[in-house]
Amino acid sequence: MEVRLQKFLAEAGIASRRKAEELIVMGKVQVNGKVMTELGTKIDTNKDIVFYQNQKVEIKNLIYIMLHKPEGYVTTVKDQFQRPTVMDLLDISERVYPVGRLDYDTSGLLLLTNDGDLTYRLTHPKHNIEKTYEAKVFGTPSEQDIVQFYKGIIIDGKKTEPAKLEILQKDKKYATVRIVIHEGRNRQVRKMCDAIQHPVAKLKRIATGTLYLKNLPKGKYRYLTQKEIDYLKKQ
Ligand code: URA
Repeated sequence: MEVRLQKFLAEAGIASRRKAEELIVMGKVQVNGKVMTELGTKIDTNKDIVFYQNQKVEIKNLIYIMLHKPEGYVTTVKDQFQRPTVMDLLDISERVYPVGRLDYDTSGLLLLTNDGDLTYRLTHPKHNIEKTYEAKVFGTPSEQDIVQFYKGIIIDGKKTEPAKLEILQKDKKYATVRIVIHEGRNRQVRKMCDAIQHPVAKLKRIATGTLYLKNLPKGKYRYLTQKEIDYLKKQ
């Protein structure tokens, strides 16, 4: 089968397609013993031999995991400050990577996979899948704040895409709200809530698209069903 080199690397779980392109341009990939820096290159998966970092690249078993990330874990493979990482919660032999990020102090749904192509598509700024959060915020957001979320808020010098804010419950000090965003900017929900002066006290992601965390216990994970994988691939 003929396939573009960057797609092949992504499907083999080496890196996202974007990152794989960088690796190619940097001269880190060899095809049949020669360094290949052309991005358009197609390879024949039955015939051509691809090497990256002196290792033969092969398409492996693709796995897709949903983890209920607890607070107090970083969403990286390794942490420079030796904090616990989400990888510590997985008991698997395959190397998987998180699809996007949850902050250290955020809990909830995190997808992990070795399918670099899917990671690329789900995290691409242009095609970002809907993400639903439940947050405990200080005070109770007003109608005006809800409109503001919909109209967009300037954070880090750039306006956010229309987002939904819904009040689920409130008491004297806090409100529980549901927030839906399409982007995945750094600490986006926290920054948006700061901007309307209702800072986040607690944050949990409850869904990615139509995939819900439901009753998956904190710190536990499960494999996605074929139906769920097909749904993500259609995004
Ligand atoms: N927005 C945030 O502020 N933090 C997260 O972890 C995810 C979205």
